[in-house]
Amino acid sequence: MERHSQDRVEQTGQPRRRGMLSRLLTLGTLALMALLVLAGCGPDIEPPYSHISPESPSTEAIQDLYKLVFWLSLVVFVGVQFAVVYIAMRYRRKASITKRPPQIHGSRRLEIAWTIIPAIVLLLLLIPTITLLYEGDAAAEEGDIVIDVYGKQWWWEFQYREDANQDGQSLGVVTGNEITVPVGRELQLNLQTNNVIHSFWIPRLSGKLDLIPGHVNTLSITPTEVGEYYGECGEFCGIQHAWMRFTINVVPEDEFYAWVNNWRTSPPTTVRGEATDQVVKAPDAFAVCLGCHRVNGVEGSVAPQGIEAPRFIGPNLTMLPCRETLAAGMLENTPENLAIWLNDPGAVKPGNYMADAIQPDTLTDEQIAELVEYLYSLEPEGGCTSAEGWTDPSVASEAAPVPGS
Ligand code: CUA
Repeated sequence: MERHSQDRVEQTGQPRRRGMLSRLLTLGTLALMALLVLAGCGPDIEPPYSHISPESPSTEAIQDLYKLVFWLSLVVFVGVQFAVVYIAMRYRRKASITKRPPQIHGSRRLEIAWTIIPAIVLLLLLIPTITLLYEGDAAAEEGDIVIDVYGKQWWWEFQYREDANQDGQSLGVVTGNEITVPVGRELQLNLQTNNVIHSFWIPRLSGKLDLIPGHVNTLSITPTEVGEYYGECGEFCGIQHAWMRFTINVVPEDEFYAWVNNWRTSPPTTVRGEATDQVVKAPDAFAVCLGCHRVNGVEGSVAPQGIEAPRFIGPNLTMLPCRETLAAGMLENTPENLAIWLNDPGAVKPGNYMADAIQPDTLTDEQIAELVEYLYSLEPEGGCTSAEGWTDPSVASEAAPVPGS
């Protein structure tokens, strides 16, 4: 039966050619799709979380290693494919031969060859990998701006510690999720957590490094290019792990000190007292917020939080209007979104600790409107990035009291 149908196909030739044509068409379409997908990986396109467009010496070194792995793999891939095709064609069974060829099971020469070749390839990868790991470790010892980074559930707290330009004094900045740093300066990030394991990752500026309870991991980064870089948590840490994002704004040095100065010159504010010429009055409902949050300048809210803080304690809200997002990258920072968040944070980011304190009926619409208005008044007079009111770094430490000092 089979013989018959095959003969028929061969006689007419039509079905076979059509089969070949459709196969070629499918292959062509797949190749075109692959080309289009790969075109998205070009160096000109920089997706925010790309790890193949490095902007710091450490990620450049990682990129070099990545290239080495890529080219070595390509050599192995092409070699194996070539060997498979060549051997299949060269040693094809001829119609005239009916005998089995001699078998080569247990050939010592072949076994040794395909043990040694991969060992050499792996050794070629091992040496630069280990060198790079130790180089990264050595670099993490220094750092002329020291920042303590705390992984929270689910956001990041950044406390600026020492600054070599200020004789190693603290910059007094304690912020959440969005930070500003000067270009070309070495940052030493001390990664800590008092809850679960997180992983700090800014794909274009650093490799991943875990935050482990009871242990401080140190990461060193020197951003070499002005720009906005995106980071995220790289280790599953609870239901909002995906919304534990952060941004790092790399700016010229004078802009950085303007930002620091803006941070430290918040207006003196009272919640319980009365407004005066020198003192701003925050809405009464703000007392609820102060249970977990801090704002520079507000009476009774000067302590940094960090590692000692209970896990439900939230981000420092100083300069809130200057942030791009709310809830660690989840909402665009607009007054409307802030009102939505204040009304029912549990609906926006299920499982977050603020939802334990704030349910839909906790704050009235009027209170929410007052809080939004007050929080949006926390923008510095000259604007968020303006250098107006910039104080020379050497005297900036006297511009405003440093929180917690
Ligand atoms: Cu923190 Cu995932």
